[in-house]
Amino acid sequence: MAAASLTGVGIFVLPSSNSGKLFLKPRSPCHRLRVPRIAAVSLDEKPKTFTLEKSEQAFSVAKELMPGGVNSPVRAFKSVGGQPIVMDSVKGSRMRDIDGNEYIDYVGSWGPAIIGHADDEVLAALAETMKKGTSFGAPCLLENTLAEMVISAVPSIEMVRFVNSGTEACMGALRLARAFTGRPKIIKFEGCYHGHADPFLVKAGSGVATLGLPDSPGVPRSATIDTLTAPFNDIAAVTELFEANKGEIAGLILEPVVGNSGFIAPTADFLEVIRKITKENGSLLIFDEVMTGFRLSYGGAQEYFGITPDLTTLGKIIGGGLPVGAYGGRREIMEMVAPAGPMYQAGTLSGNPLAMTAGIHTLRRLQKPGAYEYLDKITGELTQGILDAGKAAGHDICGGFIRGMFGFFFTNGPVYNFADAKKSDTSKFGRFYQGMLEEGVYFAPSQFEAGFTSLAHSSEDIQATIAAAERVFRKI
Ligand SMILES: Cc1ncc(COP(=O)(O)O)c(C=O)c1O
Repeated sequence: MAAASLTGVGIFVLPSSNSGKLFLKPRSPCHRLRVPRIAAVSLDEKPKTFTLEKSEQAFSVAKELMPGGVNSPVRAFKSVGGQPIVMDSVKGSRMRDIDGNEYIDYVGSWGPAIIGHADDEVLAALAETMKKGTSFGAPCLLENTLAEMVISAVPSIEMVRFVNSGTEACMGALRLARAFTGRPKIIKFEGCYHGHADPFLVKAGSGVATLGLPDSPGVPRSATIDTLTAPFNDIAAVTELFEANKGEIAGLILEPVVGNSGFIAPTADFLEVIRKITKENGSLLIFDEVMTGFRLSYGGAQEYFGITPDLTTLGKIIGGGLPVGAYGGRREIMEMVAPAGPMYQAGTLSGNPLAMTAGIHTLRRLQKPGAYEYLDKITGELTQGILDAGKAAGHDICGGFIRGMFGFFFTNGPVYNFADAKKSDTSKFGRFYQGMLEEGVYFAPSQFEAGFTSLAHSSEDIQATIAAAERVFRKI
């Protein structure tokens, strides 16, 4: 992808010329007694040398207690080698592990921490809300406040339903698209992730190659038979799918800027053309903005690119670090959702006061003038600095960013889709990753995940990261 094929402030995608093993142990009655105790860690002082001794100890315990030692797979560091770092605390742009190492963090809890971790105002607001209780299981005023904020921010959303995760949001949006159109099929793109619900586990990230085959055992063929896939940025493939499945496609769902194959931006006319094709075919266009919502701009990718989908899914940022998701769209579609309409979807903790509070206060900060310009500036400096340092050390590297989202691949590019992304030298990424960790920089532990900046990242953080990258690029 050439830089010229992209429009809008802050986008660039530069080719390089430009610029543990599973721990299997039989359970025994004294299983719990064999769990070693982790010594309390004093976090007042940084350790003199980089050591992960306590993390190693804690993770070997975790592997006995939870599958793979984690509660979400990518945290297990499988694709970068080494072992996961067990965190103790987060603040601003930083995370601190249980060995006392400090990291400049570019994961941001996988997106929510756009104003920085453990923001004082958010924490104070949460403490106030908590005095009134943690869950009502009944309507509360905070739901109205956040709903009004989301509706006034996101162009496509006239009504919204809050849920507890991005996965739930995408499940709801899919059911709604099918209910509204009365059609069974959906189109998704290779390498786009829409949560772990059965119909979306087809070519999601590191998917299998055969059309419609589930990525995971346990997902029945019947659950994915109506999931059609196309390469991202491939208008001809989308057109063919619509031709071959006339009157059967309920909706097309995509990450408008892909973050789950690494950072991949849409080509200049891609979003516009799929908007046109979906309209012509009576199918709904669903933007999965779980990652891009409130990150590319206050109104999300749809505001940034000026393309209005029929339905939008959200998560991450709108919960300010607490579990949340949402789906919304035109009133006539959303009024199909129960109890206004017949499409059933529900949630015990949905709209709970804590998640609503953290979301409201996070969005308020993002409304302040200059927030997105600042993200654009620091993320641009960071991405350009990394690409320049990589090239100067003789590596094939390309990458890009929009506002608070970025990524780079160890290939000359261009990267238009997941197949292109997979050309990246992932073992080199693993070496780079480990080197950066030792330098005190925490990127997402996979080549196929976007990075995130926050309002709490300072210019000093960015310069320190680039300087660290220069040292590591020279070694790998
Ligand atoms: C674009 C996108 N959609 C959906 C999801 C699923 O969200 P959750 O992990 O909250 O279920 C994610 C998670 O990273 C995501 O990036």
